[in-house]
Order: sequence, then C-alpha cells, then structure tokens
Amino acid sequence: MIIVTGADGYVGWPVLLKLAEEFPDERIVGIDNFARRKWVEEIGSVSAIPVLSPCERKKRLNESYGNVSLMEGDLTHRKTVETFIRVYQPDTIIHLAAQPSAPYSQISWDKAVYTQYNNNVSTLNLLWALKENNLTETHFISATTTGVYGAPEYPIPEGFFEIEYRGRRDLVPHPHMAGSFYHMSKCNDINNMWLAHRQWGLNISDVRVAIVTGATTEEARDELSTRFDFDFYFGVVTHRFCAQALIGYPITVYGKGLQGKPFVTLEDCVESFVELAKRDGKGFEVYNQTIGAVRIVDLAEMIRDAAMEEIGLEVEIRHVPNPRVEREDHEMLIENDNFKKLMGRLRDLKGAIRDIFSTLEGRKKVIEAYRDRFLPKDLLGGK
Ligand SMILES: NC(=O)c1ccc[n+]([C@@H]2O[C@H](COP(=O)([O-])OP(=O)(O)OC[C@H]3O[C@@H](n4cnc5c(N)ncnc54)[C@H](O)[C@@H]3O)[C@@H](O)[C@H]2O)c1
Repeated sequence: MIIVTGADGYVGWPVLLKLAEEFPDERIVGIDNFARRKWVEEIGSVSAIPVLSPCERKKRLNESYGNVSLMEGDLTHRKTVETFIRVYQPDTIIHLAAQPSAPYSQISWDKAVYTQYNNNVSTLNLLWALKENNLTETHFISATTTGVYGAPEYPIPEGFFEIEYRGRRDLVPHPHMAGSFYHMSKCNDINNMWLAHRQWGLNISDVRVAIVTGATTEEARDELSTRFDFDFYFGVVTHRFCAQALIGYPITVYGKGLQGKPFVTLEDCVESFVELAKRDGKGFEVYNQTIGAVRIVDLAEMIRDAAMEEIGLEVEIRHVPNPRVEREDHEMLIENDNFKKLMGRLRDLKGAIRDIFSTLEGRKKVIEAYRDRFLPKDLLGGK
C-alpha cells in the first residue's frame, strides 16, 4: 500500500501516474488539499498547461486504474492524518505535500508562518501517525530540497558532514544554512525526520530535490498533463526563462547570474521517487536529487540557443536587479553519488528544455496574457 501526499502537484501527479503503471497490483492513494491551485490563483497567475480539475482527475484515475485514487485532505489536520494512516497502514509514503515557493514564503509574516506551519505540521502529523500506529517498517520517502545546504565554499556532501574539531572527528548531519522561510521549513522537516528516525527507528529516505525542470513525463502528458507555472512566485527559473523565450520576451537574469544552481529533470525526479518506492527503507538515507549545478547565465544561454534551434526565435538576455538576497557568484559544487547509484543514468537539462518548448508551443497566448507575472512589479518596466 503506497500513499502519495501532494498528489495533485507538479511532481505528485506524475508520480501518482507512474506508480499506477509500475504497481498495478498495489493499492495507491494520493492525498492533496488542492492548495497549490489556490496559491497560483491568489498571485494572479495560471498554469501554462491546462490541467484537469480535481474531480476530473479523480474520475480519470477511476476509469484507467482500479487500484489508484486521489482524495481531498489537509495534512495539517491531525485527525485526518491519524485516521488516514490507521486505515491504510501504508508500506510506503511518498511525502511531496508542501508550500514549495521561496518567494511566496517571503511575501509577509503571514506567508512565512503559513509556510512553516503548513509544511512542518504536515510532516510532524505523518511522523507521529506512523509512530502511534507502530508502523516503524514503513518507508517514509520525503521531498526536501538542496536549498537547505545554503552556499558553502566546499563540495556539498549528501546529507552528512565529516567534521574534525580539536583533533576529534565525527560524522554529523550537514548544517542547515537555508536562505528563505520556505527552505528553512525543509530544514525543520529534516531535523524532525532525523529525530523520528533516531528515537523511534523510522526508516526515512530524505530526497533533497533540486530545481525540477520539464513539462511532461511518459505518463503525464496531453490530457493527463501536470501543471507548468512560469510566474515570479511559483515558476522555477528554467520554466520562467523558457516561457519568456517562447514569446520573445527577454530572458531576465537576476543580478550577475554567476551563481551555480542545482537542477534535475522532471522525468528523473519522478522516476527516482518511484524507484525508492520499490525498496525498503534503511535507516536514514539522503539523496541529493540533482544532475549537478549550472550557472544561471549559462542556463540563460542554453535556453536562448534552444529558442533559436527549436522555434527560430532570437531572444535577448537581460540582467535585472536581484530581488533575492543571495550570493551572485557562488560556484555550487554538489555531490550526488547516492542519487546516481539509485538511478544509473541521468537525463540532461537540454532534453527537458526541448520538451518544454515543444509542449508549450501551442500555449503562447496564455503566457503572453500573463507576461506581467514574470517579474515582481518594481522590476517590470520596459518590454
Ligand atoms: N519543483 C521543484 O523545483 C522543487 C524543488 C525542491 C523541492 N521541491 C519539493 O518537492 C515537493 C513537490 O513540489 P512541487 O513542485 O510538486 O510542488 P506543488 O505545490 O506543485 O505540489 C505540492 C502539493 O502539495 C499540496 N499540499 C500543500 N500543503 C498541503 C497540505 N497541508 N495538505 C495536503 N496537501 C497539501 C499542494 O496542494 C500541492 O498540490 C515539495 O515538497 C517541494 O517543496 C520541489
């Protein structure tokens, strides 16, 4: 029995569909409170790719797969989670539910508190429900983020850090140096998961997800597509740049753009969660789910070149003042041995960018209509 939280989300929906294909004899239940749809509406944007309504998604799952369902539920409600876990007694939980936007969490006190309450209480409720139902063998697979590491000068290890202090050595969890209230919510999640593993023996795979890039997966396409956001708050950098290029808008690099950021394709992201679901949990394992870091300026050039190759469009790269507090020249070095071992081979970013261009080609009108969502108001101006 497999539970997927956040199953209506950008990553969760394709994960649910892939599980349905790969585990035809397993009961699979997705849960979501459909909040992501409301947040994007609240900040005045839309998914560039239309997605089925929750009702239609439920219906399609019923029609296509007898063993899969999607239900509505809020993980911050303790009773909902406790009942859910007690009834289903899952062998595996893939926990993807969260408010995942750093800029959204930085808007105001309310958004920061909402993000941390939502993310941390959801995770705590799941961990406590496992403990209280004696489900210590359940494999708890959780999406955190590579953003928890901050921007150190040394190569970032996978979760653990060997330290030497006053002649003594030890292996400790890597310090958390996140740069937003959202990213800090994931640091808090990691602390709580680590504690739950240490004190109750829960088996946890902590997947530190990089910037996920891509529009489709083998299963999530056409009518069954996942969402694709391109606005300042919910569009990740690759998606914003591709949407801008697609309509001939300048690709807007924040500041110098010399900082390296870690990426992963949507296909690999989804596949690795499904791969982990095939395995038993073994203590506390960490995966840096990334193909490695790319500098933002190099990413902008990659997307500009792809725009020329794929749609014959020449686009400008424009540097704009950086709305984020971050180092603009941090060379990110990040290790990913556990992730590579899990996956075997990894897909490259260029393929994901081509996939975005071909999927969004017919959606230019929507992007054009919402182009004022690319940047915060004070950075708009010009074209
Ligand atoms: N997409 C990325 O680039 C990226 C990068 C790093 C980490 N992550 C992490 O991966 C996971 C999936 O991200 P995503 O991009 O699919 O985000 P998403 O917002 O599309 O999906 C998260 C889903 O969780 C649901 N949700 C949120 N709070 C809930 C609650 N209290 N109860 C029930 N459902 C709730 C939302 O409605 C949404 O459908 C998140 O944990 C996110 O923090 C994503």
